[in-house]
Amino acid sequence: MKTVFSGIQPSGTLTLGNYLGAMKHFVAMQEENNCYFCIVDQHAITVPQDKIKLRQNIRSLAALYLATGIDPDQSTLFIQSEVPAHAQLGWMMQCISYIGELERMTQFKDKAEGKEAVSSALLTYPPLMAADILLYNTDIVPVGEDQKQHLELTRNLAERFNHKYNDIFTVPEVQIPKVGARIMSLQNPLKKMSKSDENQKAYISMLDDEKTIMKKMKSAVTDSENEIRFDREKKPGVSNLMSILSLCSGESLNSIEARFADKGYGYFKTAVGEAVVELLRPVQNRYDELRNSDELDRHLDLGAEKANKASFKTLKKAERAFGLGRNKR
Ligand code: TYM
Repeated sequence: MKTVFSGIQPSGTLTLGNYLGAMKHFVAMQEENNCYFCIVDQHAITVPQDKIKLRQNIRSLAALYLATGIDPDQSTLFIQSEVPAHAQLGWMMQCISYIGELERMTQFKDKAEGKEAVSSALLTYPPLMAADILLYNTDIVPVGEDQKQHLELTRNLAERFNHKYNDIFTVPEVQIPKVGARIMSLQNPLKKMSKSDENQKAYISMLDDEKTIMKKMKSAVTDSENEIRFDREKKPGVSNLMSILSLCSGESLNSIEARFADKGYGYFKTAVGEAVVELLRPVQNRYDELRNSDELDRHLDLGAEKANKASFKTLKKAERAFGLGRNKR
């Protein structure tokens, strides 16, 4: 049995991109692996957050994890700030990271670009992410394409630590889905779909209602050919919609091409919208039941307990390898 770890930031409502690129795969992995799924609230505060909204988002994300099918009896679901070992090992990981390699992270460059005040945590975020993963002797990290560079750094840090101090960390493998690793914006298919996009029509939130989803789908940017064909370079908008339909319905890209061969874009967009609505409806119903329930708190309490127990052992090993603390007489 392998150990799986992944995390999602509670910074706004999740998008269809988060679901198709990451969450959907978490559910599929939990039966055969020992899985840890984390609400990474300490990552979210690398940019300013409203404290009331942040707490709402944390609860909301926990409910969404469960509503999509994460089973707390099989997997460990927990909040990062309730497991102090993350910040503790995060500090140690910072101590072995180089400023140059952190400055090369494209996500740092994107987020810092044009801003006057950039928190130092935006730069030191990847060592915390490495700590998240390494604490659990993780074998596999399922993520979307945008996290690939952070995972490469995690592997480098694990190897650096093992080589310099003591061989204690498992070097994790990244797992990126073949289809859906990068769901694109509906308004600019050359940009990733992101919950922080200023244009709300650019993304579908996992909690959007049917009318909103259909409206956003209908206004999705395509091209002037009126031909439903998968070609990411020449037809990024149509290809993105085809990927979404394929992931929502399970239909292959070839079959979609054949089925819509003589249909127009309007008809096609309606079909994609309907598939998204069908996929999200049961998740939204379950989410409504869970969000304010005591059941949610019980699962999170138990998750924190399990994660604290599992991470403590690795933390102590890392402290010993560094020489932190003292020898008891
Ligand atoms: P975050 O919160 O931005 O995104 C959560 C997951 O969703 C994936 N994703 C997408 N996949 C496909 N298409 C998109 N448009 C799209 N947008 C987001 C992300 O790749 C990610 O898998 N740093 C991480 C959180 C994190 C983490 C970790 C992940 C912290 N510690 C340890 C794995 C392991 C992040 O900001 O993800």
